[in-house]
Amino acid sequence: MFEALTPVSEMLTRNLDTLSRQPLLVCGLLEDDLPGLLADAGPAPRIFTTDFRYFQWLQGKNRGLAVEFGHLPAQEPAAGLLLLMPKAKAEAEYLLATCLPLLAPGAPVFIAGDNKGGVKAAPRLLAAYCDQVNKLDSARRASLYQAELSRPVTPPDPAAWVRRYSLARDGLSICSLPGVFSAEHLDSGTRLLLDTLDQVEGRVLDVGCGAGVIGATLLKRNPAIRLEQTDISALALQASRLTLAENGLAGEVYASDGLAQVRGPFDCIVTNPPFHAGLKTFYHTTETLLRQARDYLAPGGQLLLVANAFLPYPEIIGQAFGHCDTLAANGKFRIYRARR
Ligand SMILES: C[S@@+](CC[C@H](N)C(=O)[O-])C[C@H]1O[C@@H](n2cnc3c(N)ncnc32)[C@H](O)[C@@H]1O
Repeated sequence: MFEALTPVSEMLTRNLDTLSRQPLLVCGLLEDDLPGLLADAGPAPRIFTTDFRYFQWLQGKNRGLAVEFGHLPAQEPAAGLLLLMPKAKAEAEYLLATCLPLLAPGAPVFIAGDNKGGVKAAPRLLAAYCDQVNKLDSARRASLYQAELSRPVTPPDPAAWVRRYSLARDGLSICSLPGVFSAEHLDSGTRLLLDTLDQVEGRVLDVGCGAGVIGATLLKRNPAIRLEQTDISALALQASRLTLAENGLAGEVYASDGLAQVRGPFDCIVTNPPFHAGLKTFYHTTETLLRQARDYLAPGGQLLLVANAFLPYPEIIGQAFGHCDTLAANGKFRIYRARR
């Protein structure tokens, strides 16, 4: 899925001379083999990604590149930074604040991105760090900005990035980080799911845990369950860990692309699954999850999920399980359950 070059990377191929003058730390919205292009043109870049699926894909290419997956980059000096503008501006601010302390004053800082994806904010994002920001190129509806780090940057206090909201019914405080789904409030689909579910037991898997709200709520209501929470976003995984810790709860939190890295059987798989209008891959991820879930459940175990009413998930669940029950519905969402 990362094989084709994005328009942003196509524009960057015209600037490889400039970009490959030094080994860059590359982070942000990585969606293709830009690291390979940079490595072919000059010193090998170092890649820091918060996306587990991209991390696995790039590692699988076996190019010998240094690839890091996590919510923070390794604390090693870097000669320059290329930020590929992520979708959320708050995530761009977070990545700059966490990566720029690794650069020395005078080091080059590049920001590239789709013109519709917020890259025009680059001068504003860099204002606190760089005295002058230049637009270096613009093509294929993408732009590249260049600046020089003007002063040393102090590593940020990780706690300063945490956002919180409370769930009064369960007395929970949910912690979130930039770019995490529904970072500042409970999603209305998740709300319907939590209003519908009460008792679960045994081994419970919260797939695509985001800030950890589903798993933390179920654990608070059912202290005897053994909870596992997974996501592909390192920021989501860290937010879920913080949510558990803040509420005195314990669970296992780890990266998994769908069910690929989990080991069944579970008594319950629960999810507000990945969904993004217009991006086919998101439907694909969830459809695969629904088809595979039965194999990861113990006999009698249940799959529980919330989904937009218009999605064809009941048919897919029906094909895999032989039935699909609708436990609740409102104008927008449905809660589905199937048992093995
Ligand atoms: C709709 S959000 C739900 C988040 C959280 N459970 C909630 O209800 O607020 C879906 C989550 O799935 C994660 N995700 C996307 N693709 C995934 C994949 N292939 N495997 C696991 N998680 C994925 C996203 O990072 C996001 O956190």
